[in-house]
Amino acid sequence: MNRLDKYLAASGIGTRSEVKKYIRDCRVTVNGEIVRHADMKVDEEKDLVCFDGEPVSWSEFVYFMLNKPQGYISATSGWDPNVLDLIAEPFRNLFPVGRLDKDTEGLLLITNDGQLGHELLAPKKHVEKEYYVEIDIPLSEEDIEQISRGITYKDETYKPAVYKKISDTSFTLVITEGKYHEIKRMMLALGSKVTYLKRLRMKDLVLDESLKPGEYRYLTEEEIASLKAI
Ligand code: URA
Repeated sequence: MNRLDKYLAASGIGTRSEVKKYIRDCRVTVNGEIVRHADMKVDEEKDLVCFDGEPVSWSEFVYFMLNKPQGYISATSGWDPNVLDLIAEPFRNLFPVGRLDKDTEGLLLITNDGQLGHELLAPKKHVEKEYYVEIDIPLSEEDIEQISRGITYKDETYKPAVYKKISDTSFTLVITEGKYHEIKRMMLALGSKVTYLKRLRMKDLVLDESLKPGEYRYLTEEEIASLKAI
């Protein structure tokens, strides 16, 4: 059982205050009856909830693609602004799948599906993550060779990555691990510094370039299915 306003908000109809207004405006019915109480309890399994006459489907899990802006940490609490601050209030119980550094932009999956999150992050699954990278000092041919063989920096080793040149100081990189500051540290090992980093893809999920930094959208059914096909 769930409160009607929570149910509607979690189904993506609108924020909690928006759905309260829809209820007041008599746009919501439960089992064919107009309801006026936002705190009414609905049974997700049995009750038919409609908005403007259209059934509202209930889904246990929510999946958002966020284009993470710089300046936000990939966490759910703390002093710094965090990525959930960008998400509408009814969805503040979600969490980001994996971490991007505070100054990294791009694709971040936000969900409450712990099982999927766990599988995507499991080291043995080797899920591909593709980044667009800008650096200060161009890499040599030998550096690029090194990237394809794997890199050791201080006491950490990084698995081989796939490099695709864009210009002398920009390229894409596909990595299959998610170690702390992985790309920045790989570049430091090669004597270069990352000046801009953006995640473009995780597995088959490609950042929707129509999302401006800070914007997010629901994943499509196809995107969810392909993420789950592990
Ligand atoms: N590698 C990094 O160094 N930082 C990120 O945010 C992601 C990958």
